Amino acid sequence: MLTTKMLIIASNNKHKISELKSILSGSGFKVITMAEAGFFHNIEETGNTFEENAVLKARSIALQKHTFVFADDSGLEVEALDYRPGVYSARYAGEGASDMDKINKLLHELKGKTNRRARFVSVIAISRPDGSVDTFRGEVHGKIIDAPRGINGFGYDPVFVPEGYDKTFAELEEAIKNSISHRAKSTAKMLKVISSY
Ligand code: IMP
Repeated sequence: MLTTKMLIIASNNKHKISELKSILSGSGFKVITMAEAGFFHNIEETGNTFEENAVLKARSIALQKHTFVFADDSGLEVEALDYRPGVYSARYAGEGASDMDKINKLLHELKGKTNRRARFVSVIAISRPDGSVDTFRGEVHGKIIDAPRGINGFGYDPVFVPEGYDKTFAELEEAIKNSISHRAKSTAKMLKVISSY
């Protein structure tokens, strides 16, 4: 059994942290950040897949802190762009570029393209203190619209409309995004498994 009900989240992205804390509230697990756990190093995402990056982040902290750690690696895959930006979603418009820069680059690349299908992917890796890991994948499918709408969320949310909705992730209420998102799905799978650890 997982003796400590504390999980360190291996991310410095404040939006992701806040979504994960909200998704996991009521789960019985207390989510703490790397900084709260006294871990201040940056972990480079050198993997070629979401799985590789998620494992890299979770495992390196678990081994150093001797505890359970989970990490989410996520991004946007756009069909007409051969599934780019994918693992490069955060760095798509260069290091330090704003969310708006990334959205503008995406809309520019999609100009004139009729296939707007896209999906958000989240892979959560949970590492045990000995570095052994399990991974869980969640996806939400939808389309990219022509111009940003809405102010909630982060990243590509203002241009992503999930299937079955006519609002973007940035227009939908936070609670709705957090119930249907890629991260909601990967987290739900993780919770099912770790409650038996
Ligand atoms: P990473 O998982 O920290 O490598 O960053 C993933 C990047 O993908 C983020 O910086 C966002 O640009 C994008 N992304 C991941 N999840 C979401 C989401 O829920 N909404 C919008 N953008 C997202």
